[in-house]
Amino acid sequence: METPVRPTRQRPGPALLFGAALLTAGPAAIHLAVAPMHFQEYVPFGLFFVAAGALQLAAAAAMLARPSRRLFLAAGAGTLGIVALYLLSRTAGVPVGPRPDRPEMVGFADIACTTMELVSLPLFAVAAFRRPRPRRRHPVRVVLAAAPATLLAVALTYVGTGTAGAGMPVAYNVAPIVPGQPSTSVDLLTAAPGDEPVRSFTLTARVARIGGQNAWTYGGTVPGPELRVTQGDRLRVTLVNHLPESTTIHWHGVPGLPDAEDGVAGITQQAVPPGHSMTYEFVVNDPGTYWYHSHQDTSSQIAKGLFGALVVEPKGGPTEDRDYTVLLHNGTAGVAVNGTSNLHLAARPGERVRLRVVNAVAPGMDGTPEAPVLLGAAYRVVALDGRDLNGPQELGPERIAIGMGQRADLVFTMPASGAVRLVDTESQAHSSGVQSAIAAAAGPVGLPSVTVGDGVLPASPRLAGLPAFDPLHYGMAAPDPVATARPDASHPIVLTEQPGFHDGSIQLVHEINGKSSPDVPAITVHEGQVVRLHIVNDTTEYHPMHLHGHTMSVLSRDGRPVTGSPVRVDTVLVGPHETWDVAFLADNPGLWMFHCHVLLHAAFGLTMSIDYAGISTPYEMGTRSGNLPE
Ligand code: C2O
Ligand code: CU
Ligand code: CU
Repeated sequence: METPVRPTRQRPGPALLFGAALLTAGPAAIHLAVAPMHFQEYVPFGLFFVAAGALQLAAAAAMLARPSRRLFLAAGAGTLGIVALYLLSRTAGVPVGPRPDRPEMVGFADIACTTMELVSLPLFAVAAFRRPRPRRRHPVRVVLAAAPATLLAVALTYVGTGTAGAGMPVAYNVAPIVPGQPSTSVDLLTAAPGDEPVRSFTLTARVARIGGQNAWTYGGTVPGPELRVTQGDRLRVTLVNHLPESTTIHWHGVPGLPDAEDGVAGITQQAVPPGHSMTYEFVVNDPGTYWYHSHQDTSSQIAKGLFGALVVEPKGGPTEDRDYTVLLHNGTAGVAVNGTSNLHLAARPGERVRLRVVNAVAPGMDGTPEAPVLLGAAYRVVALDGRDLNGPQELGPERIAIGMGQRADLVFTMPASGAVRLVDTESQAHSSGVQSAIAAAAGPVGLPSVTVGDGVLPASPRLAGLPAFDPLHYGMAAPDPVATARPDASHPIVLTEQPGFHDGSIQLVHEINGKSSPDVPAITVHEGQVVRLHIVNDTTEYHPMHLHGHTMSVLSRDGRPVTGSPVRVDTVLVGPHETWDVAFLADNPGLWMFHCHVLLHAAFGLTMSIDYAGISTPYEMGTRSGNLPE
């Protein structure tokens, strides 16, 4: 007669053990992956994450090798503790560390980790308390039973460790001061003193209610006030920050801007905290159409409303009878212009009119430019990005592609009929699909209308069939010493994109030469050099590439050289799969951003820095300083 064998130790089923172990190893991997970041922040935090990761790894191994009730009880208690600590850090904040009692941001890695931990808790409970049934299960059933926990653990561990490994930098300095190595700090690169006439402005950044929404404004309006000054003036602008976040002002396109006034958080300054202020000062020697905007958390602060026009009139005043700025930007419903959807500008027949078109519209992921068309008068494109074109001829209706950040000045004489319109054909494209159906039923939706003069408005031709303005073959050729100089250096700038991990999340990562910011190596230049950039767009998107503090001369597009007027700009609109060659004279020492002005692309990695040798910055970017220039 056989005596029944009582097992000395009852093992929970293999599927349960395997699932519990994987859901413990996953968080362990994520905790180890975030440890380096936390060491940079605060050493005890780093140690905590290493210890948590190591303990979880050991527990996972023990669950497979020597499972016991006591082990699962301990694992459950430990996991509960970690989850509780996590919830505390994201709500009230933990009472220790560099920023005690300040809640931290919720990220991809911690969501993945906490999800696994929460799912593991009931598994631990079952393993500890349920009596296993003493029957053998078919191996296929075991695999099937383990599949959900396995899939969950593998997917979340992949996302969690991937985003943790590509976390937002804690601290990053583009050009640190190296002890023993002489360098000039960006702080010293200010405007030289002089006796130019001073024009003082105060821009108070504050939240204001506009169109039923909370906007971030300069002085309560979107756009901010137009700053209109005269060539040779000394601008003194005080930024007063009444926003809930830190902010800066960047002076987009102003030639010769001293680097200390460039307004880039973490490179040329510490972002101005709430309740503080800062004064920018520089001399404007070049008349033209420029604009200003925040360069802290730029993609969201511009979208919230922190931008405005800066117009430098020539000495002796405007050269036309009427001189207007037409600033295109995102409105509450589609594209707006100067804060309205219906802009009417006064002009009488025979008067000469200048329209300074500025594109501040944040486009979608494809980066599509705005494309205004002037109807009712022949006109000339007299300047791009505030720089005059040579010998511009009169044009009929043509779509002028203006990428985000770019400007175009149009000049025309008011016709006898009395009225002219500017139609933004790209914003018609914005309102395709559902919106165009609504537009057909209820009139234009999301289209800004700009009319000049009172008279019979010109009828619109079929806008889609209109020719596109080509700046490379317009106006009259003239010498451009920067374009023709033998370059001292040439650099490829290859733009690509693919989904991946960046800044602690899953993004359509944008890369320059295979790297995304802040890992794109800076280009080092020396004062006096002529530097060529060979920009290759390997994407199907538009990339208006903007260089701070300098003027780029366009050499060619897709190998075909400029045949008309020299094209000198601060932003080149590189279309899908196009290649542009440009050159700039390194005539303004400093540390300068070079980035796509589709600010989503910039935030997703498409930004780098062009640094003069011998310049350093005391400022850093990253979560520690709070300076996030993109
Ligand atoms: Cu208009 Cu770096 O910006
Ligand atoms: Cu700029
Ligand atoms: Cu881009």
